[in-house]
Amino acid sequence: MDRKITINTEKLPRHIAIIMDGNGRWAKQKGMLRAFGHENGTKSVRETVEACAKLGIENLTLYAFSTENWNRPKLEVDTLMKLLVSSLKKELPTLKENNIRLNTIGNTNMLPENAQRELADVIQQTKQNTRMVLTLALSYGSREEIISAIRHISEKVKNNQLQTADINEQVLAQHLYTHNLPDVDLVIRTSGEQRISNFLLWQIAYAEFYFTEVLWPDFREKDLNEAIISYQNRERRFGKTSEQIK
Ligand code: IPE
Ligand code: IPE
Ligand code: MG
Repeated sequence: MDRKITINTEKLPRHIAIIMDGNGRWAKQKGMLRAFGHENGTKSVRETVEACAKLGIENLTLYAFSTENWNRPKLEVDTLMKLLVSSLKKELPTLKENNIRLNTIGNTNMLPENAQRELADVIQQTKQNTRMVLTLALSYGSREEIISAIRHISEKVKNNQLQTADINEQVLAQHLYTHNLPDVDLVIRTSGEQRISNFLLWQIAYAEFYFTEVLWPDFREKDLNEAIISYQNRERRFGKTSEQIK
């Protein structure tokens, strides 16, 4: 297969999910506090969101805060929550201009009340937008998501709304936070770590992975483009043979 070096807009991933990692190390390299890395990470968020919308990506999901991140020092958690609120306020006009709808996944009831209010407001104000769905994973853990789906399904079985024999992949998928999103096509993780950290375990079953050494605050449109080009140069076989695909 010839290696393409530009993006083919006919073959875009429908759903890109990004593990935005490396803010702390970026700040440390500069002799600054971790909060400085998180602040600068918001610029990468804005650039990535706009670039994806411009390209025609239908779904972008950003891992912003994991269930495990609650175990960080309180000061850092507080900083991240404040940044979430200020970014939401600041980015609302950009989301509107770009016709982007905000969505969240995760146990958002755990977030501070002002963050929950701000999220509800931005979701409400962008709910008619159709160009791209931007999903923020907040207080998100994939194992917790799967357990919560199993609880809901079990309740339905108990109440005779569902038969055990009818539980299939679609049924489970419909009970996940991501029920209205397609499966992930491309996962990007920055900062050189090559792990999933409890992100979208079910939804990435057939995703392509792209790991880059770039730290999240340095991630720019050209890095996104490189990831998409790498994705487009792969053959997704879904269990079939190469000959069957062609
Ligand atoms: C990603 O950067 C942001 C969050 C997890 C909230 P980190 O804060 O994990 O940065 P490193 O991995 O310590 O460099
Ligand atoms: C994963 O990054 C979570 C987010 C990017 C929000 P972490 O930095 O928390 O991941 P681990 O703990 O190093 O795997
Ligand atoms: Mg990290």
